[in-house]
Amino acid sequence: MSNIRTIERIGRRLERAVRKSGPANGRNRRVSEVDELRGRVDAMEQELRDARVARYTQELLFGGLDGRGARMPTKGSVDTLVTQVEAATGERDARAHVVAAFRTLVEVELRGVGRIAGGTPNILGKLTVPLLLGPPNDDVLEIGTLFGLFSSALTRQFARAGRHCSLTIVDPLADVQLQPGTANTADPSGTPVSESVVRTNLELSGVPAERVRLHQGFSGDPAIRRAVSDRAYGTVIVDGDHSAEGVRADLEWVEEIVAPGGLVVVDDYGDRTWPGVKEAADEYLAGDTAFELMGVASTSAFLRRR
Ligand SMILES: C[S@@+](CC[C@H](N)C(=O)[O-])C[C@H]1O[C@@H](n2cnc3c(N)ncnc32)[C@H](O)[C@@H]1O
Repeated sequence: MSNIRTIERIGRRLERAVRKSGPANGRNRRVSEVDELRGRVDAMEQELRDARVARYTQELLFGGLDGRGARMPTKGSVDTLVTQVEAATGERDARAHVVAAFRTLVEVELRGVGRIAGGTPNILGKLTVPLLLGPPNDDVLEIGTLFGLFSSALTRQFARAGRHCSLTIVDPLADVQLQPGTANTADPSGTPVSESVVRTNLELSGVPAERVRLHQGFSGDPAIRRAVSDRAYGTVIVDGDHSAEGVRADLEWVEEIVAPGGLVVVDDYGDRTWPGVKEAADEYLAGDTAFELMGVASTSAFLRRR
């Protein structure tokens, strides 16, 4: 039963109790007590109705009713993430950083079109950990961008630390998200995955066009690799092909183009939807590699190149 109906029932019961009650004098006193209670119940009912309107407005903005992810994390999930971020970075109190990342996420998604892929805690981890680990330079490579909103948000996070990142982005921009073995249907947000959408989002987020290099294609394409391998990146986001083969191939390549001390975010690590990501990353880390696992926050693993 809804809270409002419960309150209404309490009111009706009070009235019935008074009507049934005994002698006139005592009865009059009880009537005024009940009137007072009735007034309080009515006020509570109105407060609840107002709170419901406010709550629905919040849901319209943050609740994922439009095909974006819901951005209403529980306190418990944020507390857990803060602990994971602190463990991965050695930061003693990461809460303010996570809160700032949440504001970035909400602002960038509300301003832009499409969505950032994934659950809120995972995105907050990806927006917080790289900066706290201190990438050795401001060149960022994102493999798999979808709508370009994560890169936009990460740029904002760099700015919070007084840094201006330069973005290199690789994605087939094939109208829909491409993943081996999946149906590749239209995105729930209704927005197409295209160069024009990615550029619009970067522009809406205030990322200067001259700080963006957008390569349409696959990370395994030799021509793309040649074009992108012209520098040593401080931060690389591996979020393209989520099959074990795809992740393995990306890690092999990325190890060649990440700067010493550089960071690699392996997105969807441990996410049950994409078992190949963890399988490939764990296998890669167990082999002969310069990558060291710094930690895991939500479903992202953070590596540093020695
Ligand atoms: C999970 S989405 C990326 C989400 C984005 N990083 C974000 O946080 O919102 C994966 C993207 O990678 C693209 N993709 C798939 N295979 C790829 C590959 N081999 N190279 C680059 N991008 C790839 C997909 O089409 C899709 O746009």
